[in-house]
Amino acid sequence: MEGKVASIHGAIGAMALLLSSCAQPGVQQGSAGVAERLRALARRGPMVVAHRGSSHEYPENTLPAFEAGVRERADLVELDFHATSDGVLVCLHDEELDRTTDAETVLGRKKVRVAETPLSDIRRLDAGRWKAARFAETPLPTLVEALEGFGRRSLIMIERKQGSASSLLEVLRQLDLVDEVLVQAFDWDWLEEIHRLEPGLALAALGKDPLTPELLDRLGRTGACMAHWDARKLRLEDVRALKDRGYLVALYTIDDEIGFAGAAAAGADAITTNRPGRLVELIRDGSVP
Ligand code: G3P
Ligand code: CA
Repeated sequence: MEGKVASIHGAIGAMALLLSSCAQPGVQQGSAGVAERLRALARRGPMVVAHRGSSHEYPENTLPAFEAGVRERADLVELDFHATSDGVLVCLHDEELDRTTDAETVLGRKKVRVAETPLSDIRRLDAGRWKAARFAETPLPTLVEALEGFGRRSLIMIERKQGSASSLLEVLRQLDLVDEVLVQAFDWDWLEEIHRLEPGLALAALGKDPLTPELLDRLGRTGACMAHWDARKLRLEDVRALKDRGYLVALYTIDDEIGFAGAAAAGADAITTNRPGRLVELIRDGSVP
């Protein structure tokens, strides 16, 4: 029976891949639902991505920052995750705990890596005080807590920093969020793996180097519907080349107003910013068309 179910899943997966790869030239599209929602949003103007939440004002990758991103009407709220030593996915950008928590004081050591820390120790940390005293005692959330907290009130852009594809899929399936999120990574091998395991998942490929023909070809194998690139590394013609191939183009990380206008003029479908509220205002009053 198990074998039969596996082969049915395999056939469905292969069919989904075949159908999705026909949707746009160059793009192996993941979840038609999320990708189409993103395309519809982008037709109105650049989407606003709250980078690590509304992280200019709030401590990044914490529930207050995510809540503020939703409140400020970002189209997507971005977060990063790592796996703890006991395999729990937690929201954090850096490999080490020092910059955004009081780990040095609490754990008595510098440069402690999240990958060597069990959840029980993560629970003892303050992830807010470094930003401002008013955020003291803000916990470092698990991915499940973050997704349960705001997961159905915003589209979520989940960035894998470290952790297996299967562990992320387990969380998304447990919360029934496979068709509600966009998953991204700099590691394109990891993207290929998660695309193979769950062809319906919408993916964005992160880029930090100048775009080359080799990267453009490689992008086609990731299963991504979006290219999410360092704004300083793309030329205007690269944005056009990506869009001509059917990719949504997102640019990170832009916080200045001239930069917002420049990204919009370049044709960005999404702008990733630590100041989502300000960008939303500027789009609404027509300053960023
Ligand atoms: O969302 C894009 C951006 O988050 C990638 O860079 O280092 O801020 O995770 P980083
Ligand atoms: Ca990120």
